[in-house]
Amino acid sequence: MSGLAERYGPWALIAGASEGTGAEFARQLAEEGLNLILVARREGPLDALAAELAGSGVKVVTATVDLAGKDAVARLAEVAAPFEVGLLVFNAGADPNGVGFLDGDLAAWTELATRNCLTVMAACHHFGRLMRARGRGGLLVCGSGVCYGGIPGIGVYGATKAFDLNLMESLWAELKPNGIDVLYLVMGRTDTPAHRKLTLEQGRDWEPETMASAADVARLGLERLPHGPIQNWGLADDEAGWATISAADRRRRIEAIAGASSYAKKG
Ligand SMILES: NC(=O)c1ccc[n+]([C@@H]2O[C@H](COP(=O)([O-])OP(=O)(O)OC[C@H]3O[C@@H](n4cnc5c(N)ncnc54)[C@H](OP(=O)(O)O)[C@@H]3O)[C@@H](O)[C@H]2O)c1
Repeated sequence: MSGLAERYGPWALIAGASEGTGAEFARQLAEEGLNLILVARREGPLDALAAELAGSGVKVVTATVDLAGKDAVARLAEVAAPFEVGLLVFNAGADPNGVGFLDGDLAAWTELATRNCLTVMAACHHFGRLMRARGRGGLLVCGSGVCYGGIPGIGVYGATKAFDLNLMESLWAELKPNGIDVLYLVMGRTDTPAHRKLTLEQGRDWEPETMASAADVARLGLERLPHGPIQNWGLADDEAGWATISAADRRRRIEAIAGASSYAKKG
Protein backbone atom coordinates (compact mmCIF):
# COMPACT_ATOMS: atom_id res chain seq x y z
CA MET A 1 0.00 0.00 0.00
CA SER A 2 1.55 3.27 -1.09
CA GLY A 3 0.78 6.23 -3.30
CA LEU A 4 -2.82 6.49 -2.06
CA ALA A 5 -2.67 10.30 -1.79
CA GLU A 6 -1.52 10.53 -5.42
CA ARG A 7 -4.02 7.99 -6.68
CA TYR A 8 -7.12 9.35 -4.95
CA GLY A 9 -6.44 12.94 -3.94
CA PRO A 10 -5.70 14.89 -0.84
CA TRP A 11 -8.68 14.15 1.43
CA ALA A 12 -10.46 11.00 2.64
CA LEU A 13 -13.82 10.94 4.39
CA ILE A 14 -14.39 8.05 6.79
CA ALA A 15 -18.02 7.46 7.77
CA GLY A 16 -17.91 5.64 11.11
CA ALA A 17 -14.36 6.64 11.94
CA SER A 18 -14.06 6.81 15.69
CA GLU A 19 -13.20 3.22 16.64
CA GLY A 20 -12.43 -0.27 15.37
CA THR A 21 -11.79 -0.59 11.65
CA GLY A 22 -12.88 3.01 11.06
CA ALA A 23 -10.16 4.36 13.36
CA GLU A 24 -7.63 1.99 11.77
CA PHE A 25 -8.49 3.29 8.31
CA ALA A 26 -7.88 6.79 9.70
CA ARG A 27 -4.48 5.88 11.20
CA GLN A 28 -3.29 4.13 8.04
CA LEU A 29 -4.53 6.86 5.71
CA ALA A 30 -2.84 9.51 7.87
CA GLU A 31 0.41 7.53 7.52
CA GLU A 32 -0.13 7.70 3.77
CA GLY A 33 -0.41 11.48 3.98
CA LEU A 34 -4.14 11.87 3.33
CA ASN A 35 -6.02 14.60 5.16
CA LEU A 36 -9.05 13.25 6.96
CA ILE A 37 -12.69 14.04 7.60
CA LEU A 38 -13.73 11.81 10.50
CA VAL A 39 -17.45 11.18 10.98
CA ALA A 40 -19.38 9.44 13.76
CA ARG A 41 -22.14 10.30 16.25
CA ARG A 42 -20.09 10.70 19.44
CA GLU A 43 -17.88 13.73 19.68
CA GLY A 44 -15.53 12.44 22.41
CA PRO A 45 -14.01 9.47 20.53
CA LEU A 46 -13.69 11.56 17.36
CA ASP A 47 -11.83 14.29 19.24
CA ALA A 48 -9.56 11.71 20.90
CA LEU A 49 -8.65 10.21 17.52
CA ALA A 50 -8.08 13.66 16.03
CA ALA A 51 -5.74 14.47 18.95
CA GLU A 52 -3.89 11.18 18.42
CA LEU A 53 -3.40 12.03 14.73
CA ALA A 54 -2.38 15.64 15.42
CA GLY A 55 1.34 14.80 15.17
CA SER A 56 1.00 12.92 11.90
CA GLY A 57 1.34 16.01 9.73
CA VAL A 58 -2.06 15.70 8.05
CA LYS A 59 -5.11 17.91 8.56
CA VAL A 60 -8.01 16.35 10.45
CA VAL A 61 -11.60 17.61 10.53
CA THR A 62 -14.26 15.93 12.68
CA ALA A 63 -18.04 15.98 12.25
CA THR A 64 -20.79 14.48 14.37
CA VAL A 65 -23.39 13.14 11.97
CA ASP A 66 -25.99 10.42 12.47
CA LEU A 67 -25.62 8.37 9.29
CA ALA A 68 -29.10 6.95 9.85
CA GLY A 69 -30.59 10.44 9.66
CA LYS A 70 -32.50 11.54 6.57
CA ASP A 71 -30.18 14.53 6.15
CA ALA A 72 -26.98 12.52 6.66
CA VAL A 73 -25.47 12.97 3.22
CA ALA A 74 -26.51 16.62 3.03
CA ARG A 75 -24.50 17.06 6.24
CA LEU A 76 -21.53 15.12 4.83
CA ALA A 77 -21.67 17.24 1.69
CA GLU A 78 -21.70 20.43 3.74
CA VAL A 79 -18.76 19.38 5.91
CA ALA A 80 -16.75 18.16 2.91
CA ALA A 81 -17.55 21.09 0.59
CA PRO A 82 -14.29 23.02 1.17
CA PHE A 83 -12.14 19.94 0.56
CA GLU A 84 -11.29 17.66 -2.37
CA VAL A 85 -12.49 14.27 -1.11
CA GLY A 86 -10.88 11.65 -3.32
CA LEU A 87 -11.61 8.65 -1.13
CA LEU A 88 -14.80 7.68 0.68
CA VAL A 89 -14.57 4.88 3.25
CA PHE A 90 -18.00 3.85 4.50
CA ASN A 91 -17.24 1.80 7.60
CA ALA A 92 -20.31 2.16 9.87
CA GLY A 93 -22.71 -0.71 9.29
CA ALA A 94 -22.99 -3.18 12.17
CA ASP A 95 -26.33 -4.33 13.56
CA PRO A 96 -26.50 -3.14 17.18
CA ASN A 97 -29.90 -4.76 17.83
CA GLY A 98 -29.01 -8.39 18.50
CA VAL A 99 -32.62 -9.65 18.26
CA GLY A 100 -34.73 -11.52 15.75
CA PHE A 101 -36.84 -9.75 13.14
CA LEU A 102 -40.20 -9.74 14.93
CA ASP A 103 -38.65 -9.04 18.32
CA GLY A 104 -37.05 -5.84 17.08
CA ASP A 105 -38.94 -2.59 16.56
CA LEU A 106 -39.67 -1.69 12.98
CA ALA A 107 -38.13 1.71 13.75
CA ALA A 108 -34.79 0.04 14.55
CA TRP A 109 -34.84 -1.97 11.30
CA THR A 110 -35.74 1.16 9.35
CA GLU A 111 -32.79 2.99 10.93
CA LEU A 112 -30.43 0.12 10.07
CA ALA A 113 -31.65 -0.03 6.48
CA THR A 114 -31.46 3.75 6.11
CA ARG A 115 -27.84 3.94 7.31
CA ASN A 116 -26.63 0.86 5.45
CA CYS A 117 -28.54 1.28 2.18
CA LEU A 118 -29.90 4.76 1.56
CA THR A 119 -27.00 6.65 3.13
CA VAL A 120 -24.39 4.43 1.46
CA MET A 121 -26.15 4.95 -1.87
CA ALA A 122 -26.48 8.73 -1.46
CA ALA A 123 -22.89 9.13 -0.26
CA CYS A 124 -21.56 7.16 -3.26
CA HIS A 125 -23.74 9.30 -5.53
CA HIS A 126 -22.61 12.62 -4.07
CA PHE A 127 -18.90 11.88 -3.77
CA GLY A 128 -18.85 9.68 -6.89
CA ARG A 129 -20.05 12.56 -9.07
CA LEU A 130 -17.30 14.82 -7.75
CA MET A 131 -14.73 12.06 -8.33
CA ARG A 132 -15.97 11.43 -11.86
CA ALA A 133 -15.55 15.12 -12.68
CA ARG A 134 -11.90 14.85 -11.57
CA GLY A 135 -11.28 11.53 -13.30
CA ARG A 136 -10.05 9.78 -10.16
CA GLY A 137 -11.28 8.55 -6.79
CA GLY A 138 -12.02 5.60 -4.54
CA LEU A 139 -15.18 4.21 -2.91
CA LEU A 140 -14.69 1.58 -0.22
CA VAL A 141 -17.67 0.11 1.65
CA CYS A 142 -17.30 -2.35 4.52
CA GLY A 143 -19.44 -5.45 4.14
CA SER A 144 -20.05 -8.75 5.86
CA GLY A 145 -20.06 -12.39 4.76
CA VAL A 146 -23.82 -12.42 5.38
CA CYS A 147 -24.14 -10.50 2.09
CA TYR A 148 -24.00 -13.89 0.33
CA GLY A 149 -27.08 -15.41 1.99
CA GLY A 150 -29.56 -15.13 4.82
CA ILE A 151 -28.84 -16.08 8.42
CA PRO A 152 -31.57 -16.24 11.09
CA GLY A 153 -31.41 -13.49 13.67
CA ILE A 154 -29.72 -10.95 11.40
CA GLY A 155 -32.14 -10.81 8.48
CA VAL A 156 -32.32 -7.04 8.00
CA TYR A 157 -28.58 -6.64 8.52
CA GLY A 158 -27.88 -9.34 5.93
CA ALA A 159 -30.35 -7.80 3.49
CA THR A 160 -28.63 -4.41 3.75
CA LYS A 161 -25.26 -6.02 3.15
CA ALA A 162 -26.61 -7.81 0.07
CA PHE A 163 -27.88 -4.45 -1.20
CA ASP A 164 -24.41 -2.96 -0.76
CA LEU A 165 -22.78 -5.98 -2.45
CA ASN A 166 -24.90 -5.52 -5.56
CA LEU A 167 -24.49 -1.78 -5.61
CA MET A 168 -20.72 -1.85 -5.25
CA GLU A 169 -20.23 -4.61 -7.82
CA SER A 170 -22.24 -2.60 -10.31
CA LEU A 171 -20.46 0.65 -9.51
CA TRP A 172 -17.09 -1.06 -9.89
CA ALA A 173 -17.84 -1.87 -13.53
CA GLU A 174 -19.68 1.38 -14.18
CA LEU A 175 -17.10 3.78 -12.74
CA LYS A 176 -13.91 2.02 -13.78
CA PRO A 177 -13.75 3.99 -17.05
CA ASN A 178 -13.93 7.17 -14.94
CA GLY A 179 -10.82 6.31 -12.95
CA ILE A 180 -12.76 5.46 -9.77
CA ASP A 181 -11.74 2.38 -7.78
CA VAL A 182 -14.61 0.60 -6.01
CA LEU A 183 -14.23 -2.08 -3.35
CA TYR A 184 -16.71 -3.98 -1.22
CA LEU A 185 -14.62 -5.31 1.67
CA VAL A 186 -16.37 -8.45 2.91
CA MET A 187 -15.35 -8.84 6.53
CA GLY A 188 -15.49 -11.77 8.91
CA ARG A 189 -15.61 -11.55 12.70
CA THR A 190 -13.37 -8.67 13.68
CA ASP A 191 -12.17 -7.38 17.03
CA THR A 192 -14.02 -4.05 17.29
CA PRO A 193 -15.60 -2.29 20.28
CA ALA A 194 -19.07 -2.50 18.70
CA HIS A 195 -18.77 -6.24 18.14
CA ARG A 196 -17.44 -6.73 21.65
CA LYS A 197 -20.33 -4.76 23.19
CA LEU A 198 -22.97 -6.77 21.33
CA THR A 199 -21.28 -10.10 22.12
CA LEU A 200 -21.17 -9.36 25.84
CA GLU A 201 -24.75 -8.01 25.86
CA GLN A 202 -25.86 -11.32 24.36
CA GLY A 203 -24.08 -13.23 27.13
CA ARG A 204 -21.60 -14.82 24.75
CA ASP A 205 -17.89 -15.23 25.36
CA TRP A 206 -15.62 -12.58 23.92
CA GLU A 207 -12.77 -14.37 22.15
CA PRO A 208 -10.78 -11.78 20.21
CA GLU A 209 -8.03 -14.34 19.53
CA THR A 210 -10.44 -16.05 17.08
CA MET A 211 -11.08 -12.83 15.18
CA ALA A 212 -9.35 -10.60 12.67
CA SER A 213 -7.66 -7.49 14.02
CA ALA A 214 -9.14 -4.17 12.95
CA ALA A 215 -5.72 -2.98 11.76
CA ASP A 216 -5.25 -6.03 9.50
CA VAL A 217 -8.72 -5.63 8.02
CA ALA A 218 -8.21 -1.94 7.25
CA ARG A 219 -4.78 -2.65 5.73
CA LEU A 220 -6.23 -5.34 3.48
CA GLY A 221 -9.03 -3.01 2.36
CA LEU A 222 -6.63 -0.24 1.38
CA GLU A 223 -4.29 -2.68 -0.38
CA ARG A 224 -7.12 -4.24 -2.36
CA LEU A 225 -9.00 -1.05 -3.22
CA PRO A 226 -7.55 -0.95 -6.76
CA HIS A 227 -8.48 -4.61 -7.24
CA GLY A 228 -12.24 -4.62 -6.70
CA PRO A 229 -15.03 -5.19 -6.73
CA ILE A 230 -14.79 -7.71 -3.88
CA GLN A 231 -12.23 -8.69 -1.28
CA ASN A 232 -13.27 -11.51 1.03
CA TRP A 233 -11.52 -11.54 4.40
CA GLY A 234 -9.25 -14.58 4.73
CA LEU A 235 -9.66 -15.72 1.13
CA ALA A 236 -7.34 -15.27 -1.83
CA ASP A 237 -8.78 -13.60 -4.91
CA ASP A 238 -9.34 -16.92 -6.70
CA GLU A 239 -10.50 -18.85 -3.62
CA ALA A 240 -14.23 -19.54 -3.16
CA GLY A 241 -14.09 -20.89 0.42
CA TRP A 242 -16.91 -19.71 2.68
CA ALA A 243 -17.97 -17.15 0.05
CA THR A 244 -19.00 -20.05 -2.28
CA ILE A 245 -17.90 -18.09 -5.35
CA SER A 246 -14.43 -16.55 -5.51
CA ALA A 247 -13.91 -12.81 -5.93
CA ALA A 248 -12.14 -13.53 -9.23
CA ASP A 249 -15.14 -15.47 -10.57
CA ARG A 250 -17.50 -12.69 -9.52
CA ARG A 251 -15.25 -10.17 -11.29
CA ARG A 252 -15.24 -12.31 -14.45
CA ARG A 253 -19.05 -12.46 -14.39
CA ILE A 254 -19.40 -8.69 -14.17
CA GLU A 255 -16.74 -8.10 -16.79
CA ALA A 256 -18.51 -10.45 -19.19
CA ILE A 257 -21.83 -8.67 -18.68
CA ALA A 258 -20.29 -5.20 -18.73
CA GLY A 259 -18.41 -6.05 -21.91
CA ALA A 260 -21.68 -6.80 -23.63
CA SER A 261 -23.44 -3.68 -22.34
CA SER A 262 -23.27 -0.11 -23.54
CA TYR A 263 -21.94 1.11 -20.21
CA ALA A 264 -18.53 -0.49 -20.57
CA LYS A 265 -17.95 1.42 -23.78
CA LYS A 266 -19.02 4.85 -22.50
CA GLY A 267 -16.15 5.87 -20.24
N1 LIG B 1 -16.90 -6.43 13.85
C1 LIG B 1 -17.23 -7.52 13.14
O1 LIG B 1 -17.09 -8.67 13.58
C2 LIG B 1 -17.77 -7.35 11.74
C3 LIG B 1 -18.04 -8.49 10.97
C4 LIG B 1 -18.49 -8.34 9.66
C5 LIG B 1 -18.68 -7.07 9.15
N2 LIG B 1 -18.43 -5.98 9.92
C6 LIG B 1 -18.66 -4.65 9.34
O2 LIG B 1 -17.58 -3.80 9.69
C7 LIG B 1 -18.02 -2.45 9.81
C8 LIG B 1 -17.57 -1.88 11.16
O3 LIG B 1 -18.20 -2.63 12.19
P1 LIG B 1 -17.98 -2.35 13.75
O4 LIG B 1 -18.04 -3.66 14.42
O5 LIG B 1 -16.80 -1.50 13.99
O6 LIG B 1 -19.28 -1.53 14.20
P2 LIG B 1 -20.04 -0.26 13.57
O7 LIG B 1 -21.02 0.15 14.59
O8 LIG B 1 -20.54 -0.56 12.22
O9 LIG B 1 -18.92 0.83 13.39
C9 LIG B 1 -18.42 1.59 14.44
C10 LIG B 1 -18.15 3.01 13.97
O10 LIG B 1 -19.26 3.53 13.23
C11 LIG B 1 -19.85 4.66 13.92
N3 LIG B 1 -21.29 4.61 13.70
C12 LIG B 1 -22.13 3.57 13.91
N4 LIG B 1 -23.39 3.93 13.62
C13 LIG B 1 -23.35 5.22 13.21
C14 LIG B 1 -24.33 6.18 12.80
N5 LIG B 1 -25.63 5.88 12.76
N6 LIG B 1 -23.91 7.40 12.43
C15 LIG B 1 -22.61 7.73 12.47
N7 LIG B 1 -21.63 6.89 12.86
C16 LIG B 1 -22.01 5.64 13.23
C17 LIG B 1 -19.39 4.49 15.36
O11 LIG B 1 -19.28 5.69 16.11
P3 LIG B 1 -20.52 6.27 16.95
O12 LIG B 1 -21.04 5.15 17.77
O13 LIG B 1 -19.90 7.38 17.75
O14 LIG B 1 -21.48 6.80 15.96
C18 LIG B 1 -17.98 3.93 15.15
O15 LIG B 1 -17.08 4.95 14.79
C19 LIG B 1 -19.54 -2.51 9.62
O16 LIG B 1 -19.87 -2.17 8.30
C20 LIG B 1 -19.89 -3.95 9.90
O17 LIG B 1 -21.08 -4.38 9.25
C21 LIG B 1 -18.01 -6.08 11.20
